[in-house]
Amino acid sequence: MTEWVKLELDIDRFDDARFEPYLRRAQSAGTRFTTMAALDDAPEQRRALYHLNKACSADIPDRGPFYTYDEYVAQRIDVATFNPNGVIVATLGADWIAMSATSLHPDQQFAFSEMTGVLAPHRGKGLSLALKLLAIQFVRSSGYRRLVAFHHPRNETAIAMNRRLGFVDQVR
Ligand SMILES: CC(C)(COP(=O)(O)OP(=O)(O)OC[C@H]1O[C@@H](n2cnc3c(N)ncnc32)[C@H](O)[C@@H]1OP(=O)(O)O)[C@@H](O)C(=O)NCCC(=O)NCCS
Repeated sequence: MTEWVKLELDIDRFDDARFEPYLRRAQSAGTRFTTMAALDDAPEQRRALYHLNKACSADIPDRGPFYTYDEYVAQRIDVATFNPNGVIVATLGADWIAMSATSLHPDQQFAFSEMTGVLAPHRGKGLSLALKLLAIQFVRSSGYRRLVAFHHPRNETAIAMNRRLGFVDQVR
């Protein structure tokens, strides 16, 4: 059985200023950041999110076959924890190139980083750090102080990304 790497970020200790340059750099290069809420969460946008999530998830170790579109809507969007304000999307022209989705869990008082993904041609430029800065600001403005992420132990890039942001091994 997979022993997940469980990471947690203390939102109060996160220093936005360290990561704002990544956001500005991406914006200067023409990348736009929005949310599913701002995009009205319409059917065509749900389909674009699905294709983006599917393409990025192909690089998650042992991910296995991805959902069909109908399964994705039923299991990832039409669920109580889906929050369109917490789904940040990065676009370049008409292309959707990256995403970061965060859910809120009031019963346990933490936010959960569901999925951060950048299409392969756009990786290595700090885009994930820009997305996660916006995700962390969403978590803070929603009144939460803990952001949790689980990763496959072989997903070294994602683990490094989160450690770079200040995530540490979960102790609880
Ligand atoms: C993980 C992922 C989102 C990173 O996106 P990215 O935009 O390429 O990452 P960034 O350029 O913002 O790099 C952020 C940090 O991640 C780490 N990182 C990025 N690419 C790395 C690589 N190839 N090897 C090791 N660490 C890497 C570094 O710590 C980097 O910070 P630094 O360059 O300042 O040291 C991207 O690789 C991806 O979409 N992977 C497939 C989907 C996935 O596994 N998502 C996570 C599961 S939810």
